[in-house]
Amino acid sequence: MWHFASSIFQQRRTRRRWLQVSQELFDFNRSVALIADSDSLMASISARVRELFLADRMLILRAVPESGIFTVAFSTGYSAADLQCIHLEQRDRLPKWLLANEQAMVVSDNPSVFNYLGPAEREMLLRLEVRICCPLFALNRLTGLIMLSSTVEQWRIGQEDIDLLQMLMTQASIAFENADLYQQQRDRLRRLDRAERLATAGQLAASVAHEIRNPLTAIRSTVQHLLGYFDESSPRRALMEGVISEVDRIDRTVDGLLSFTRHNDFKPEKVALGELVDESLLLVRTEASKLAVEIIWSPPEIEICTMGDVAQLKQVLLNLMLNALEAISGGGQLHISVDAITEQDRPSGERTFATVVIRDSGCGIPAEVLNKILNPFFTTKESGTGLGLFISQSIIQRHGGEIEISSIEGGGTTVELRLPLLA
Ligand SMILES: Nc1ncnc2c1ncn2[C@@H]1O[C@H](COP(=O)(O)OP(=O)(O)O)[C@@H](O)[C@H]1O
Ligand SMILES: [Mg+2]
Repeated sequence: MWHFASSIFQQRRTRRRWLQVSQELFDFNRSVALIADSDSLMASISARVRELFLADRMLILRAVPESGIFTVAFSTGYSAADLQCIHLEQRDRLPKWLLANEQAMVVSDNPSVFNYLGPAEREMLLRLEVRICCPLFALNRLTGLIMLSSTVEQWRIGQEDIDLLQMLMTQASIAFENADLYQQQRDRLRRLDRAERLATAGQLAASVAHEIRNPLTAIRSTVQHLLGYFDESSPRRALMEGVISEVDRIDRTVDGLLSFTRHNDFKPEKVALGELVDESLLLVRTEASKLAVEIIWSPPEIEICTMGDVAQLKQVLLNLMLNALEAISGGGQLHISVDAITEQDRPSGERTFATVVIRDSGCGIPAEVLNKILNPFFTTKESGTGLGLFISQSIIQRHGGEIEISSIEGGGTTVELRLPLLA
């Protein structure tokens, strides 16, 4: 009789507990299902986990796609110095164990697993006083892990809590995966939209440029003719000269637009990049010496070649060299180098490039401006067109290459061109 009552009591308790777990899962799902932004998702998940498990120290690491490295996506209760010790990669033993066992690891309950870990992993878990590591999975991949701990010595996490944590983390993984996919889709749409706008801009540019050029030539020659009616010292003459310089500026912009559309006839041939630099330098040396800019350039010892259109690539080098000269005032240096480099590109293996690096000791680019300089018509110069970098980028991309610009305000700018290496 007593046994019967106790078993009923037990069943009721289990049932009550299950109802409670279902409710928690339901609430958790509801709170994360509608969030499409990973930062808000991270905030919501971490707050919920902290509240449910009373853990005052928590870390969420997420795998960086294709790099094999985990980085800290969220932390609470740790100092910046504590976080310095976190180094974890997919090939390390902890991620491998979590992936193989598909379950959380309670550090103190698993001395054999703890001893199986690498020394750096053990040191990291000890330093962070991690009590439990729970994996985040998506499609049989370990996409992250959550580590809980507490500054309260008596803090414990029972089996029921571990089960609940694992269930919540399964939901969290799906929510993270959805948010990432949503973000990727948004980025893709934005890029597509930009590409479409540029294609339209290119088509329009060709027809508009011709329409603008003719009246522009007429305006310029009329004003030039009128100049003759004024003395050298007349303020009216200065006004007229202002008109001419503005007309010239419109002409440069139109020229830039036309050169953008001309690039449709792309004639690739073998180009030795060292020679190309030499030829381009011929055109800027005089300007450089006028500005007291020292050119530091030694051609590569072996010939480094790419397949490309000589005229277009020369235009890129000229754009970049002129930008560098324009950024240097009161003397400075312009370094140029050509090289062949090999880069590890996981998972597809090694990639080799020909590189041209153009580095100046000029004014540099403020961080908030750096992501705008490739946009068409972005310029910070009085008489700039803002087309130089935009066109250079489109040429390099057409060659299957990349352009990377890094800069420190007041500390100069480095532009690196990477082009397919012709063996
Ligand atoms: N080497 C450089 N140093 C400093 N700023 C640069 C450099 N290259 C480009 N920039 C910045 O990028 C802007 C856009 O450059 P670009 O597209 O060549 O157009 P433009 O030279 O006509 O302004 C420049 O106005 C300038 O602010
Ligand atoms: Mg320029």
